[in-house]
Amino acid sequence: MSSELIEFLNVIFRYIHVVAAIMWIGNSLLFTWMEVNFVKDPKKGPNSIGEMNMLHAGGVYFLEKRVIDPNNIPPKLHVFKWQSYTTWLSGFVLLVAVFYSRPGTLLLDPSKTDMAGWMATVISLSSLVMAWVVYDLLLKTPLRKNTVAVMATLALLLLGYMIWIDGFFSSRFVYLQVGAMLGTIMSANVRFVIIPNQKKIMENLKAGRPHDLEIGRQAKLRSLTNHYVTFPVIFLMLSAHFPSLYGDPYYIAIAAVIIVCLIIIKWMMNIYNEFSEWLYVALACFILGSCAVIGLKYVSSHTSGGGGPALAIDDPIRLGQQLYQRNGCMVCHQLVDTTVAPTLHGIYGTERRLTSGETVLADEAYLIESIMDPRAKITQGYAASMPGYETVFNEEELAHLIAYIRSL
Ligand code: HEC
Repeated sequence: MSSELIEFLNVIFRYIHVVAAIMWIGNSLLFTWMEVNFVKDPKKGPNSIGEMNMLHAGGVYFLEKRVIDPNNIPPKLHVFKWQSYTTWLSGFVLLVAVFYSRPGTLLLDPSKTDMAGWMATVISLSSLVMAWVVYDLLLKTPLRKNTVAVMATLALLLLGYMIWIDGFFSSRFVYLQVGAMLGTIMSANVRFVIIPNQKKIMENLKAGRPHDLEIGRQAKLRSLTNHYVTFPVIFLMLSAHFPSLYGDPYYIAIAAVIIVCLIIIKWMMNIYNEFSEWLYVALACFILGSCAVIGLKYVSSHTSGGGGPALAIDDPIRLGQQLYQRNGCMVCHQLVDTTVAPTLHGIYGTERRLTSGETVLADEAYLIESIMDPRAKITQGYAASMPGYETVFNEEELAHLIAYIRSL
């Protein structure tokens, strides 16, 4: 696929993905908020579960949650599913168009492995399917009766999986891969359990069959796991913007701390009516979680010189690629010129136009200066927004980076 086409798909599908995800997660948050805020009116009898009034857009919305009455099923019932399907489908297109089209650079970490790109793609794809299969099996075992046990088992399995893929995937992609797996579980829950079970419940009611409690319980359990996973998935999906997190040697531990904190914070937000100390617990979680992350970053910067674990290879281009990835260069520098930054592909040996109007040759000295002191010469058409790396790289590391840029 040409890089222009990749960029085009990236823009369109990322936009669709983000908008659909906002709609889906917005629904999930609003429905959960309504669940905990319904007030039961005893005068209304057993069929009314609760009601509320909401002021919005110049009117009062009156909302009542009722047990479904088989003799009085509303002619129009709104069902929410396309938000979820659209989020998953657009995410999948992005994964294929942007990541699977360049598995060697975007999935794999060449300092850890010499695995072939297609193999990385196969592992990533099959893991999406396996995530759903394992999760679904887990919720069919007796463990399903205990939501906390389900969540804890899932968390441990995911942790083990992350440690395994850390052996070959780049840390940036490890976060994304786990995010994509959780997103797949969420969407499959909607597609294969929540919506079909809702349909079964309605059919049973219409046919006058007794209400099968287990069907409803399964749908509810799936909705609940989906709900608690939303905050972690948002973090994982946005993590590509945080090189300081995914670039850290302890990035798996950092993700674990952040995910546990996010789940506890979401839980506190859900029980704020019954638990008066909810805000203190949520704040304590935020502060302790932040301290833990800062602590982990402190330890890593004092044990491995800031550059991560010792590199086990001696090919300068690969070492350069690793530095390039760890330090987030590719966040701004893409395959083609973007409005954020010029591409570095094929830059070596070309004439560069500067904002001053001069031109310079992109030789080794120029590249080194551009990295260490980016403000010295600004490329025409760009803002002086590149951070300086003068305190980050030593001479040897710079040589590796230049070798990598020359190879692009
Ligand atoms: C926050 C975005 C950002 C990050 C991160 C970033 N750059 Fe840049 N870089 C830019 C921008 C914008 C320019 C063009 C303006 C300028 O010349 O400073 C640039 C220019 C350059 C140039 C000169 C390109 C030219 O057109 O002549 C080189 C070389 C370069 N960057 C290398 C790197 C390397 C290596 C890293 C990672 C260690 C990196 N950059 C990280 C934004 C970024």
